[in-house]
Amino acid sequence: MSMMSIRAATPRDREAIRLVEEHAFGQQAEAGLVDALVDGGDVVVELVAEEDGQVVGHILFSRLYVQNGADSFPAVALAPLAVEPDFHRSGIGGALIREAHIRLRDAGETLAVVLGDPAYYGRFGYAHDRAAGFESDYQCEELQALAWGDAPETGRLAYAPAFGTALAA
Ligand SMILES: CC(C)(COP(=O)(O)OP(=O)(O)OC[C@H]1O[C@@H](n2cnc3c(N)ncnc32)[C@H](O)[C@@H]1OP(=O)(O)O)[C@@H](O)C(=O)NCCC(=O)NCCS
Repeated sequence: MSMMSIRAATPRDREAIRLVEEHAFGQQAEAGLVDALVDGGDVVVELVAEEDGQVVGHILFSRLYVQNGADSFPAVALAPLAVEPDFHRSGIGGALIREAHIRLRDAGETLAVVLGDPAYYGRFGYAHDRAAGFESDYQCEELQALAWGDAPETGRLAYAPAFGTALAA
């Protein structure tokens, strides 16, 4: 029987992570975003899922600020999340999200934002209603948030610089 395990990503995982991202998305943009977030020092939590020693899943949460005038509240952005296509629908994506949430809460984080399919992220507590009050270039029904504690409900979302450069490339 195969065994899935989840652990923090290390510098030795970079190539394996790049391949999982490229295979999952069928393009290089997300792999480039990951590299840019790591290079920019913006990673808050980054995990990999392994099956029999092979990296088959990856999740990254980066620093995001909610800006209200002079106030800047630290939150996190979930992106990207990727699972090797041969391993889809076996619970790996969900396990990565849940484990990352535990670690984020333990670290004192109170707010996570994601841009993605509400049918998927809704399973993990994300809701557009919680994000509807934020100002963002990405504001739409797919912008969702999950709060574990006191956190702003309005303000401008300022993503890590990599989102403006890696994804535009
Ligand atoms: C999205 C993704 C990470 C899910 O990984 P996974 O390990 O297959 O997910 P899980 O096994 O935890 O959950 C699978 C369930 O989610 C559903 N699901 C998967 N992607 C979905 C989506 N985009 N919208 C709605 N439901 C989705 C599946 O139908 C499945 O439902 P079921 O259990 O009722 O059959 C994976 O499909 C993937 O890497 N996709 C390509 C990259 C991508 O789109 N990433 C997210 C962008 S923000």
